[in-house]
Amino acid sequence: MTQRTLVLVKPDGVRRGLTGEVLRRIEAKGYTLVACELKQATRDMLAQHYAEHEGKPFYEPLVEFMLSGPVTAAVFEGERVIEGFRALAGATDPTVALPGTIRGDLGRDWGLKVQQNIVHGSDSEESSAREIAIWFPGLA
Ligand code: CMP
Repeated sequence: MTQRTLVLVKPDGVRRGLTGEVLRRIEAKGYTLVACELKQATRDMLAQHYAEHEGKPFYEPLVEFMLSGPVTAAVFEGERVIEGFRALAGATDPTVALPGTIRGDLGRDWGLKVQQNIVHGSDSEESSAREIAIWFPGLA
C-alpha cells in the first residue's frame, strides 16, 4: 500500500549539515521525495505536532530545542514508507540506535538526553496525515 510519511531533519541535523546525507539515505532506499522545505517551526506548529507528548517531562525542552533553528521538512512516498523510514532512522535514543541507521551512524548523546536525535518520522498513517497537514498545508 502506497503511503506518505513526514520526515523532519531536526535543528541538530540541520546545524551539523546532515540534511543531504539524511535525504540521500531515504532516496537510496528507493522512496520518492514529494515535498521538501527548510522551515522555522512555530510554537503553534509544535504544539500540534507534539500534542501527544504534552505534559510529559521532556515536552518543554523538546519544544525549545525544536525552536532553536530551522528544520528540513520533507514528505516521502512509497510502499510501507512509514515503517521503512522508521527502520532507516533507528531507535529514538541515538546512543543505542544500531549502526547502519541514521541515528546509529550519525547521532550520539550530546548531554541532552534523546531530544537531539537528528530526525523525526511519522509513526502511523493517522500521524502522517496529521503531520503533513501541519508542515505542508498546501499539499494535496
Ligand atoms: P520524535 O520521533 O520527534 O518524537 C518525540 C520526540 O521526543 C523524540 O523524537 C525525541 O526527540 C523526544 N523524546 C522522546 N523521549 C524523550 C525523553 N525521554 N527525553 C527527552 N526527549 C525525548
